[in-house]
Amino acid sequence: MAPLVWSAALEIGHTEIDNDHRAMVGLLNRLQEASERSDRLATQALLVELESLTRDHFAREEQLMLDIHYEFSARHQKEHVHLFDEVRAQIEEMNEGIVSAAAIAGFIKRWLIDHVETSDRQLATALARWRSNPL
Ligand SMILES: [Fe+2]
Repeated sequence: MAPLVWSAALEIGHTEIDNDHRAMVGLLNRLQEASERSDRLATQALLVELESLTRDHFAREEQLMLDIHYEFSARHQKEHVHLFDEVRAQIEEMNEGIVSAAAIAGFIKRWLIDHVETSDRQLATALARWRSNPL
């Protein structure tokens, strides 16, 4: 699968969140590439790194939601939890040899693009509104 090239079109206008997303895309590309060349050690290390970054990133977003009393916080957090549940299940399948890490990376990329374009963009709008007019 071709690497996902980061572009300004994927930015939502919040530097901290955009930086996290860019780092996640970079890791996902590296994970896909390691999996495709059957480098088990690199694949495992990248999965660990990706999990830690994603966890930190979701925590950062969720803290921002708390800061602004974001009205769609529960729904947004549910999407984060759902991704972890889904990826956990896929990693079990990977350990059973059913799916590859490259396929998991592809799934996360599709999830990320969809999530960024909808929920994160909506959050960025609320954050910008808050910055210009905090309660
Ligand atoms: Fe999010």
